[in-house]
This record gives sequence, structure tokens and C-alpha cells, in this order.
Amino acid sequence: MKLEAKVQKAMNEQVNKELYSSYLYLSMSAWCESEGYPGCAKWLGMQSSEEREHAMKIYHFIHERGGRVELAGIDTPKSDFKDLTQLFTMVLEHERKVSASITALYETAMKANDYATQIMLQWFITEQVEEEKNANEIVDLLKKVGESPVSLLMFDRQLGTRAAG
Ligand code: FEO
Repeated sequence: MKLEAKVQKAMNEQVNKELYSSYLYLSMSAWCESEGYPGCAKWLGMQSSEEREHAMKIYHFIHERGGRVELAGIDTPKSDFKDLTQLFTMVLEHERKVSASITALYETAMKANDYATQIMLQWFITEQVEEEKNANEIVDLLKKVGESPVSLLMFDRQLGTRAAG
């Protein structure tokens, strides 16, 4: 079954959103690096790479289904932040938006009786639970850390221990 035009359009939009996520986290990573938070910069840099992988998963799926990938412009991400709390709160809010977008995409596939796309999107639904959980934990941790430079240093070290995968 070929991709329905509506589903293809929504999938292309999701590719753009994942690439924007990648760009946003790279911008956040750059800010952290400039501000002396190398651990956070590493965490966000890895997150940025993951987002590109998400975009590519959908990109390849569109092709596998005989569809057309159409790339659009990527919005300019925010490049300046007040502090780490503001930055990671934005990560959490952004992930919630992505989850809503994946849900909407799933509904589009459901209405089109496109079971293959629904199955593919189940991976993303599970992934979004993980993404929101991780961001939530970081925001909670930052609330405990407060603004003491020593605690922020330890927090930064902790984020820098993120391993691939
Ligand atoms: Fe690709 Fe963080 O969602």
C-alpha cells in the first residue's frame, strides 16, 4: 500500500520537526560549551545526533513505502539562555510538543488505515515516553541543585557521563 498524500505530508513535516529538534539541541549545546558546562554540552550534542537519527528513520521509511521525501527550511533555534534551568525546561517543553506531534501523526495514519505507518510510529511513541522522562528528571535534579556553583559543577559532570545508546 502506497503512502497516502496526507500521511506523506505529515511524515515530511515530522522529518522537519526532528531536524529542528536536532538543530535546537545543537544550539543549546553550543551555549553550554561557551558558558563552561562541557558535560551539558556533551549531553545535548548526543541528543542532537539522536534527533537526526529520528529524522532519518522517517526519511528512510517514506522511501521504503515508495513515497517522496521533501525537505523544507529549518527554523532558526534560540541561541541564548538565561541559565541551565531555563534551557532544560525548554527541552522538556519541546519534547512534550514532539510527543503531541507524533500522536497527531499516528491519528492521521489511523484515519488512512495505514497500518505499516502505525507500527513504525509505535517506536516513536515509546521513545517519546523515554525522552520526556529524561528531560523531566534533569529539570527535577536542577531544582535540587539550585544555583550554587559547586552543585552546578557536579551536575555538569553528571550529565557528561551520558553514554551512547
Ligand atoms: Fe525525536 Fe526528542 O524527539
